[in-house]
Amino acid sequence: MKLLEDMIRKNGTVLPGEVLKVDNFLNHQVDPKLMYELGGEFKRLFKDEGITRILTVESSGIAPAVMTGLQMDVPVVFARKHKSLTLIDNLYTATVYSYTKQVSNKISVDKRFILPNDRVLIIDDFLANGQAVQGLLEIASAAKVEVAGVGVVIEKSFQKGRKMLEKTGIHVEALARIASLANNEVTFVQD
Ligand code: G4P
Ligand code: NA
Ligand code: NA
Repeated sequence: MKLLEDMIRKNGTVLPGEVLKVDNFLNHQVDPKLMYELGGEFKRLFKDEGITRILTVESSGIAPAVMTGLQMDVPVVFARKHKSLTLIDNLYTATVYSYTKQVSNKISVDKRFILPNDRVLIIDDFLANGQAVQGLLEIASAAKVEVAGVGVVIEKSFQKGRKMLEKTGIHVEALARIASLANNEVTFVQD
């Protein structure tokens, strides 16, 4: 998506360890108009999938997920992160390991907020190693609902998340695909 690529070129910076810092429009300060446009693009890409609910994980997935829900006119639910969890009878849970931060978090969604027969669209800000999306897939599976798509704002195509998701056969879309962050330079996948 050209608008997003231009924004990344203009405002993104590359940090050591192949991390793309985009905290002035996505991860800290949020650009609402851009998020609304991203939501419209996800709506277009997933219009034939019969989506009834958006699922994301706090915190940075929430802004693009909410705007996608607004565009598609469906409810949005975000998984919460916990250090530990007790009293989980009312929750669907999964464990998410972050390679970047080298910590495991439990994530959970209240059973009231994923319903039988839902067709879920998972939205997240970054797809890197795919651990967050994997956790959301586990939650969807525990809830016995269909995941009809995964939409990510920025995919780091050189990390293993995309390949992992393609093996599942799920419809995956990324609005910007980054081939490389080597030499402090952002190179997009050519299409
Ligand atoms: P994964 O979910 O794809 O496996 O991501 P990974 O464990 O590699 O990364 C952990 C966190 O770092 C995730 O956010 C992920 O979105 C984010 N991340 C990964 N690569 C980049 C990057 O190049 N730039 C930025 N800005 N973030 C990146 P999180 O811990 O779930 O945090 P948040 O959603 O609360 O922000
Ligand atoms: Na995230
Ligand atoms: Na993040």
